[in-house]
Amino acid sequence: MKFKAAVLLLALELILGLILAGCCHGALQVGFYRGKCGFADVEAMVAGVITAQFLRDPTIVAALLRLQFHDCFVNGCDASILIDGINSEKTVPPNLSVRGYDIIDQAKAAVENACPGVVSCADLIAIATRDAVFLSGGGRYEVETGRRDGLVSIAQNVSILGPKISAPEAIAGFADKGLNATDTVLLLGAHSVGVTHCSLIKDRVYNFQGTGSPDPAMDPFLVNILRSRGILQIDQQLGMDPLTTPIVRNLAGEFDFPTRFGAAMVKMGAIGVLTGTQGEIRRSCRATN
Ligand code: HEM
Repeated sequence: MKFKAAVLLLALELILGLILAGCCHGALQVGFYRGKCGFADVEAMVAGVITAQFLRDPTIVAALLRLQFHDCFVNGCDASILIDGINSEKTVPPNLSVRGYDIIDQAKAAVENACPGVVSCADLIAIATRDAVFLSGGGRYEVETGRRDGLVSIAQNVSILGPKISAPEAIAGFADKGLNATDTVLLLGAHSVGVTHCSLIKDRVYNFQGTGSPDPAMDPFLVNILRSRGILQIDQQLGMDPLTTPIVRNLAGEFDFPTRFGAAMVKMGAIGVLTGTQGEIRRSCRATN
């Protein structure tokens, strides 16, 4: 009897956990800005800016994805990477090739114009990246919002994983941020839309709609990984290491890469966020108030 009750309790906890996991991470929520900017729709305003930018330059998807990763992995997703200054995060070598600051400035200008001091720069990064992924054919995911902006951006805080790490090192680095091995593989799928400097191996790979895959339903990134033809050394490692090969195979076989990728982006977007009365809503994304 006791055993039955325990099993029932466990099942209830599991169901509740699943519901909550699908709903929101911590204090973040889908549609946080609904009704907070008069009649204006914050996400639609950002989408307008990103669509115009994307039509001019579709590589903004790669810029924004990397910007969000480099923001979230240092001090949490608090827009600390956007701050200008002689010793701020953006001055360190791995961040020198990060792009997209001007895009966030434009999104910020649009929302400040409609309702000053309401929308955080940290949320703008998340919304803008989601929009760019969608425009590039990577599927649409609901983005959670409610982040506040950080007050600190110091070069010495930046410790970003290097391109020559092993798969176990990558998994450990992501685990540090609460992401599991499958999230690691999924998020590294972002490299299928990137450009990388020649010294780091190759020039450009497929976009989300990619070509060259033997099975059109299969994500080209995963296909390349399985053939050990990833762009960066770490991408190749995923297809060779016994820890990650089964994950890559499963993802490649099961197949709903865009949805799974979106879910992993939402998870990454929840790392170390500031909410409620923490931090601030910056007036300019490039400086604390
Ligand atoms: C182990 C983790 C990771 C490592 C070691 C890594 C490393 C790198 C390196 C070395 C580059 C090339 C930079 C350059 O050419 O200067 C790059 C580019 C890129 N990375 Fe990653 N990365 C990692 C994870 C991620 C994640 C989680 C995302 C996003 C979800 C991401 C998105 C991108 C994108 C989109 C580019 C191309 C950027 C552009 O074209 O401007 N990376 N990454």
